[in-house]
Amino acid sequence: MKFFVDTAEVSDIRELHDIGLLDGVTTNPSLIAKSGRDFKEVVQEICALLPGLPVSAEVAATDYDGMMAEGKVLAALADNVVVKLPLTLDGLKACKHMTSEGIRTNVTLCFSANQALLAAKCGATYISPFIGRLDDLNVDGMDLIQDIRMIYDNYDYQTQVLAASIRTPNHVSQAALAGADVATIPPAVLKKLASHMLTDKGLEAFVKDWASTGQSIL
Ligand code: G3P
Repeated sequence: MKFFVDTAEVSDIRELHDIGLLDGVTTNPSLIAKSGRDFKEVVQEICALLPGLPVSAEVAATDYDGMMAEGKVLAALADNVVVKLPLTLDGLKACKHMTSEGIRTNVTLCFSANQALLAAKCGATYISPFIGRLDDLNVDGMDLIQDIRMIYDNYDYQTQVLAASIRTPNHVSQAALAGADVATIPPAVLKKLASHMLTDKGLEAFVKDWASTGQSIL
């Protein structure tokens, strides 16, 4: 499973990339607003930090012409930019045209299997079903991941299932079990994946017992 980090905070991206955990980055207008930084500048900085890895940058326009114009500007920022488009009819049309022009796309704000089917038919590189926001409505977001996986496998669609709106470590393991190709994960959740209280407890005992031997490996 590929791990993308869902943030526009460069220091978090750098830290996780240094560990070797990242296969890409996703941003959205809310994350850009939270960063307080210039959109194009931060996207270029992230792209330079992760050369060759996909970095999703979202259009702000909601009409087809606007999305096409903005998408071309974003795609020109760096080779590894993936243009993020909303799952609307205009967004799907823009996806179809960008795909035919060789621009990679991430169709976002997906909340149903039919929406995901449309994105695949329009050649989306990634589809982003929002797990957490469905869970917020007492609908199991993971069912959507399973349904999309089955539909894409039935028809051999190459669009990658990118589980988004991930809020907990359980979301990550469940999305992996459901066959999502990618999970885009907030930095804090990504770091939590490594934690287990029994690991901490066990390590504490090993450190103490090793000290009692008085030996040194070096
Ligand atoms: O990947 C989409 C994500 O940024 C949305 O997350 O927690 O706002 O639903 P959330």
